[in-house]
Amino acid sequence: MTDEDRITDGAVSGKSDPVLRVDGLRKAFGGLQVTDDVDLEVERGSITGLIGPNGAGKSTLFNLVSGFYEPDGGSVYVNDTEVTGREPHAVADAGLVRTFQTPRKLEGMTVREAMLVGPQHQTGESVFSIFTNRSQVLAEERANLEQAMQTLERFEIAEFADTPATELSGGQMKLVELARATMTEPDVLLLDEPVAGVNPTLANKLKGFIRDINDEGITVLLIEHDMGFIMDLADPIVVLDQGRVLVEGAPDAVRTDDRVVDAYLGGPLDE
Ligand SMILES: Nc1ncnc2c1ncn2[C@@H]1O[C@H](COP(=O)(O)OP(=O)(O)OP(=O)(O)O)[C@@H](O)[C@H]1O
Ligand SMILES: [Mg+2]
Repeated sequence: MTDEDRITDGAVSGKSDPVLRVDGLRKAFGGLQVTDDVDLEVERGSITGLIGPNGAGKSTLFNLVSGFYEPDGGSVYVNDTEVTGREPHAVADAGLVRTFQTPRKLEGMTVREAMLVGPQHQTGESVFSIFTNRSQVLAEERANLEQAMQTLERFEIAEFADTPATELSGGQMKLVELARATMTEPDVLLLDEPVAGVNPTLANKLKGFIRDINDEGITVLLIEHDMGFIMDLADPIVVLDQGRVLVEGAPDAVRTDDRVVDAYLGGPLDE
């Protein structure tokens, strides 16, 4: 079988070292079955692409996996730890972090402050420990601040550290979201449309950064409508259609598969 033929019906299971495993995940809103018995494995070290038409259920799947929505059924494992229905911070502790399609509002925060929202394992989160271990809290705050600045430098946005987050362009905000998501050093990072609305130069820069963090050991699961971007970056590609995994395979095989072309009904894949 050549690489171009590499495609299967539904998701490929039995991967050798899945960092994320989703079994029979289901979610309905009202009468609409948005996630319909989804099985998925993301191999450690991969950049896996998740594509599908508008409304296919891609963001919902991210919300279910990362603890922002509670599933109606099925299970989610991160690093072999079951995290089904657990809070986002618990899922992050298990090693999975996500970004949002529409970045959250960060009114009143500078970029530096925004970077510090959500780091895990902060002793200061426990009121009790503030009294018992003040010096440790301060040391952690210093370390977090230092890490935030190093991360901003690494993503070439240190110049915006003192800028109100709301003054950034959409593209710059996407960079901050990516930078911030790496702060907790996740094993697997879920990126929901990291280059939507971003100019080509910045999209290329983001592509480079995503490759870099993957080279450094972070597995990436990525939703994107920009077909050139995702086909270039991701392998394998998983196609979601009407809440179900349609096919999984190599980019070239997916791009030309009749079922995938039909699902898009002459949409983005024909561009
Ligand atoms: N909280 C919610 N309440 C009700 N319906 C919802 C909710 N979240 C998502 N949906 C519905 O679920 C379906 C799938 O939405 P979802 O956002 O997961 O699609 P998507 O594949 O990410 O689409 P897009 O490519 O446009 O971002 C849509 O019909 C949407 O309206
Ligand atoms: Mg979406």
